[in-house]
Amino acid sequence: MNEERRYLTFALGKGRLAQQTMELLAGAGITCEEMKDRHSRKLIFVNEALGLKFFLSKNPDVPTYVEYGAADIGVVGSDVLREENKRVYEVLDLGFGRCRMCVCGPAEAGELLRHHERIRVASKYPNTAKDYFFNKKHQTVDIIKLNGSVELGPIVQLSDVIVDIVETGSTLRENGLEVLEEICPVSARMIVNRVSMQMEAERIRKIITMVRERIS
Ligand code: PRP
Repeated sequence: MNEERRYLTFALGKGRLAQQTMELLAGAGITCEEMKDRHSRKLIFVNEALGLKFFLSKNPDVPTYVEYGAADIGVVGSDVLREENKRVYEVLDLGFGRCRMCVCGPAEAGELLRHHERIRVASKYPNTAKDYFFNKKHQTVDIIKLNGSVELGPIVQLSDVIVDIVETGSTLRENGLEVLEEICPVSARMIVNRVSMQMEAERIRKIITMVRERIS
């Protein structure tokens, strides 16, 4: 890489989102051989020729890396973006990682929702849940933050309902729960650091254009 040119860094949410992102980028000629080794425990990968770095992080941390400029570009679900509310530019809807943010619970909990009862809501997305119940539904609820396997909430009577993403619906079905209300659709988004967007405008615009061509 040219001495003068700095690396552009991508932060990708670990797992399927990162894999789908790399497949999409490969179609636009952006690859990273180092990343293809599935047994590797490395966290950061480099493509010297293109002057690019890629790192994998937990999904909720992606907007944080991009907001602070530790990464120039990030790919993360709109569920996480909405929850984290960071100061980043959202530049593309990538169209994959589609699912729905929903209020779910046992069928009986539907009554509690209809009557605007003061219920307990467990979620990995407390801000999203708060915004939906307080600002949209004008319903006072108690929010309980969980970090995963949220479907347990109503099963062990920690909460009446949950706010969570539903993709195939099989986790709900297998646990006797159902979608009670839909909050919003979710899909993967490309985000960009606000300073990088000015300082590296040409390189970043080129990447956005190439990716947009692949998804349209
Ligand atoms: C997500 C989500 C649901 C499940 C939905 O959990 O929180 O539990 O996937 O998918 P489905 O509708 O296809 O069943 P994830 O697998 O990320 O694990 P976690 O609950 O531990 O966060």
